[in-house]
Amino acid sequence: MRLLFIGDIVGKAGRDAVKIRLERVRAEHKIDFCVANGENIAHGFGITAKTACELFSAGVDLLTGGNHSWDKKEVIALMESKPIIRPLNFPSGAAGKGIWIARIGGQNAAIINLMGFHNMGVIDNPFRAILTALETLKNDGIKHIAIDFHCETTAEKNALLKLLEGKVGAIAGTHTHVGTDDLLIARGTGYVSDIGLCGVLSEVIGMDSAEPIRRYTTGMKQSFEPAGKGRSIFQAIVFELNDDGLCADCYKIKAFDDGESFISLRHGGGW
Ligand SMILES: [Fe+2]
Ligand SMILES: [Fe+2]
Repeated sequence: MRLLFIGDIVGKAGRDAVKIRLERVRAEHKIDFCVANGENIAHGFGITAKTACELFSAGVDLLTGGNHSWDKKEVIALMESKPIIRPLNFPSGAAGKGIWIARIGGQNAAIINLMGFHNMGVIDNPFRAILTALETLKNDGIKHIAIDFHCETTAEKNALLKLLEGKVGAIAGTHTHVGTDDLLIARGTGYVSDIGLCGVLSEVIGMDSAEPIRRYTTGMKQSFEPAGKGRSIFQAIVFELNDDGLCADCYKIKAFDDGESFISLRHGGGW
């Protein structure tokens, strides 16, 4: 099966970057299922019905989240009726769920959203949470497993890879909004530390640069606004999983503004 993982979609510019090319990317790369990180789709913060439905209409099958999952209250009700998940390791009592089981090409596949420790507020241990979840999935006979690991630090992302290499088909990092060039396959686990954002590239992680510059030069902290203008980018990773659920191939697709999408990075081997 061929999975497409799209990185953090930031605001309208990010949604537009996805909307104008997803149908074609899905067809050209024979995508069976498309996962997109949606924590920033609604004006940079959270998920609304309108912005989620826009992306579902464009060809996204499942929206994942992160530390901004709860920024818009309406997402709580939305999670009951739409394919939207949030990090698995939010403490018990949190709305929604962290695992989505999809029927893809005659196989059951589990897409898991997980969140790292660093800088993420109140969250349970992601390493313990994923090991427990994998045990349950194994008992249910589910072999095809892919994870959106929403996480700040590359060390933590690397540690999750070492814990899970050979046990899941794909781990795609999100949250930093900056794509990394470490795409690899480790004992059958396709991995990248961060996919990178969809949205305005020429500002600050998809946000208008005025506020971050003010914050970092004066210490006056106010809320960020998504960038409305500037050069935009689309970034996604294709993971091909074999019948055993292991990664047979993975590569990155990138596109700028109205330009054609292209394969920007092939996996660099691994171990
Ligand atoms: Fe984000
Ligand atoms: Fe985030």
